[in-house]
Amino acid sequence: MPRHHSNGHFANEVQSKKIHISELKIGMWVSKLEKDWLETPFLMQGFLIESIDDIETVAQYSEYVWVDVREEHWVSLNANATLTQAPTKTIYINKIPVREENERIYGVYRDARRLTKSLLDEVRLTSVINTQQAKTMVRDCVESVLRNSDALMWMSKIRDRDSYTSEHCLNVCILAIAFGRQLGYDENALYDLGICGLLHDVGKMKIPLEILNKPGPLTDDEMKIMKRHSVYGRNLLMSAGSGAAQAVDVAWNHHERIDGQGYPRGLNDAQISRYSRVIAIVDAFDAMTADRVYQPPIPATQALKIIYQDKGTHFDAELAQEFIKTVGLYPPGSVVELMNGEVGLVFETNHKYRQLPKLIVLLDADKNPVKEKIVDLAQVEKGQLNRSYLIKDVLIDGSFGISAKEYQQRGLMFRSR
Ligand SMILES: [Fe+2]
Repeated sequence: MPRHHSNGHFANEVQSKKIHISELKIGMWVSKLEKDWLETPFLMQGFLIESIDDIETVAQYSEYVWVDVREEHWVSLNANATLTQAPTKTIYINKIPVREENERIYGVYRDARRLTKSLLDEVRLTSVINTQQAKTMVRDCVESVLRNSDALMWMSKIRDRDSYTSEHCLNVCILAIAFGRQLGYDENALYDLGICGLLHDVGKMKIPLEILNKPGPLTDDEMKIMKRHSVYGRNLLMSAGSGAAQAVDVAWNHHERIDGQGYPRGLNDAQISRYSRVIAIVDAFDAMTADRVYQPPIPATQALKIIYQDKGTHFDAELAQEFIKTVGLYPPGSVVELMNGEVGLVFETNHKYRQLPKLIVLLDADKNPVKEKIVDLAQVEKGQLNRSYLIKDVLIDGSFGISAKEYQQRGLMFRSR
């Protein structure tokens, strides 16, 4: 099968050419197929043709393919390479397996949650943003996402209803970094994006708590006050100084919309910066999938559908489609039911066969707990696992008592034995 460079990003499509499948050769780098990526098992980030079998697999889905015209991409990349520079974008390859990163990152994530909360509490009390603290934390997050982009995404599923705002800020930071990695941003840009994500809603610290934490929908008047958070955020960050220009822009403009219907200024498409467009998507996704006191979460797949529908009106169309690729159909931490009725948790994305992630199966067909077993659904593709192991549905976190949080705790107990 064609080897896929996990989470790698393929550079500019303008540098690819369309060829008939018969011209496809081993060593070529395929960047695009004729079909919409949703209709194929491939994630359109590019993959290397390594054998005749690969060509046959591709032929099932496409008569013509787009291949990279730059020959340097026609050779195998070193799987241990950290960064491979493309002319305009960076190609990233996971450095370590998700399990290893998961164990390493737990402490980082726990500290980041605590620090985000204390940073925001301090803003509420003193109107001062501890930018040094923010920078150190974001640096740790970028390093983790560069080692493996799945582990922190899993962590971001573990949330606490009671500290919504601070966890939302941290999750937007993490998701924005993972999204930036998918977009091929260089390391400094990932860091800037992380800071923008972490501080995008810092203005909410100037909103009265009874409105911010109201356990129900806001009235029109309350909504007007809530919407001031973007200007408050801009002001707070402007007074923080020290090169936070992009964070100022994002705090101010992350609720602007492509169709000009956003707030606070109703900017038009051309006036909205790239980072604000990125954060607008990540912000909406995290808000929709969060478990709020007054609003149950929706599964990631449904949130992605909404983002897809709103592309070109609310969200930047191109970025919205890229974001869908970043999160994938079954992001780490998703609770899924298989065709055979078994229930499990996704712990590792398969970036080539998006519908075939690695799972930890926790319940049998009758929904009774079973000894945890790891199942790699990619084995279905290889004929080593029966098709009843295909995913039937994504369930809401907490279904049948299964949640990412609970497993994380059990996993830790398991490790400490
Ligand atoms: Fe906001």
